[in-house]
Amino acid sequence: MSTLRSKIESVVVDAARPDLCQFQCNGALAVAKSAGRNPRELAVEIMERLSEKPMFKNIEIAGPGFLNFTLTDAYIINHASEVSVDESMGCDTAAKELRVVIDFGGPNVAKPMHVGHLRSAIIGDSLQRLFRYLGYNVISDNHLGDWGTQMGMLISELRRREPSLPYFDEFFGGEYPAEAPISIVDLELMYPEASKKCKADSELMAEAIVCTDQLQQGRPGFVALWKHFVNLSVKTLNVDFEKLDVKFDHWLGESYYMDRMSTVVDRLKKDGFAETSEGATVMHVVTEKDTKEIPPVMLVKSGGGFLYATSDIATIDYRVETFNADRICYVVDKRQGLHFEQVFRAVKKSGIAPESLMLEHVGFGTVNGADGKPYKTRDGGVMKLGDLITLVIDKAVERISEANVAADQSEEARREIAEIVGMAALKFADLQNHRLSDYVFDLEKFSSFEGKTGPYLLYSAVRIKSILRKATDAGFPVGSIAVCTSEAERNLMLELAKFEDTLIAAAADTAPNYLCDYVYDLSKVFNRFFKECHILREENETTRGSWLALVSYTLSTMETVLGLLGIQVPERM
Ligand code: ARG
Repeated sequence: MSTLRSKIESVVVDAARPDLCQFQCNGALAVAKSAGRNPRELAVEIMERLSEKPMFKNIEIAGPGFLNFTLTDAYIINHASEVSVDESMGCDTAAKELRVVIDFGGPNVAKPMHVGHLRSAIIGDSLQRLFRYLGYNVISDNHLGDWGTQMGMLISELRRREPSLPYFDEFFGGEYPAEAPISIVDLELMYPEASKKCKADSELMAEAIVCTDQLQQGRPGFVALWKHFVNLSVKTLNVDFEKLDVKFDHWLGESYYMDRMSTVVDRLKKDGFAETSEGATVMHVVTEKDTKEIPPVMLVKSGGGFLYATSDIATIDYRVETFNADRICYVVDKRQGLHFEQVFRAVKKSGIAPESLMLEHVGFGTVNGADGKPYKTRDGGVMKLGDLITLVIDKAVERISEANVAADQSEEARREIAEIVGMAALKFADLQNHRLSDYVFDLEKFSSFEGKTGPYLLYSAVRIKSILRKATDAGFPVGSIAVCTSEAERNLMLELAKFEDTLIAAAADTAPNYLCDYVYDLSKVFNRFFKECHILREENETTRGSWLALVSYTLSTMETVLGLLGIQVPERM
């Protein structure tokens, strides 16, 4: 079915009136225009040709030239049966040439990750799983914020507190200590304080900027200190990412490009793309067609420091040269839209990126509290990711005992299930909205075992596992899909057949919410089938075996789609 749809290119869609047919097609109308023919006549011709194919039970023409299709049960059964035993479930996963870099995560050193980074991690991870499943060559990179003014703020703050440390002695010639001078706890406390002070006092801010510039120019003591800060931060970041089960191929932070930033800026100046303006180096990216204001890209500050955009431009230079990237997706807060617009224009205009490179800002909205403002802690602070994860898991523990889930299992097993349920609640709640929309963080709703939630879907998948276990215990073998005895069964097979198209559409639109909708719909269609077809009471062996095969096929589809959302399904619950 998916082959049919992909060949005629999206003009065949699910029927708007499933009581009349299964699929509909507006192709005759579309082609008639360019061919200068009467659409209805053309539709009749198409219908006559297609009617010869044994896959169609019925083809009808509706209105001015729409084609309505119904497939034969034999075709549907055969398709389901073939796909159900196919390793990639009928999906064309043949290695594609495309090399896709996904830039996501991107937390900042010394600042704990917050819910914005959570969205980036969850959406980015789902995209990397999806692209990989479809056979793309994926390179995921966690673009750490480890080179900005916050580093100078930390260095100058520590210098005020402990001026005698060797890192601040310009004439220090020995080895810097291997051990960090402060703990991660102190570092995380020090950052908000330093930032607050700098914002309130322009002299302190100026000092922080000087420190940043000196760090970027390679002052040895500052570089040594900075390395400690980065290492401390990376350790805690790893803990959060591990809990989220999010992995990256690379952790090349902004600092990784420090040498490249100066070469790129020199090149831009030499080639006449960048110019000096009031002591700073800037590049104009505005075009005649622009109706909104596009400010120039700031490449170097008057003090000599590089900026966020400079590191992103150098990063693209690297990704083109080293990864040979064809497409780069930036999974970053939509409020950074202008930044990416400027950076993308700069690299295209200057030829750093070839014309063929696809640069995409995969933006996302904000996670809000009940008050409609960005989600905060009770005392109004920024909600740290680690604390949020703890909150979600605690809630899952509560829900599990309330709903009497896994009641017969050990304390330890229940804790494990709670962790899986908590993550499913968090990830599904985030991914089910279109990424660009803001959503309200409602833990009660997300963690419920009812409705369109992660826990509900886990519960559905686990129930299917238990059906299959019961069948095995009763000695009923899983057969092959061979019958179609009811509407519910046919609908389930048709729903399962949407798997490939759903994945392709989700990848094309970088929209994991399509996967959420699909897995939820699938669970609903399955429930209807399960209600109508009494599998374990069925006496006809062929029918029972066929139904069990359909059950197992549904389970693998559900598990695969949930897996693409980064959601793991437990064995029992
Ligand atoms: N560190 C940035 C932030 O917290 C996100 C980095 C996104 N990636 C990039 N290539 N700019 O906002």
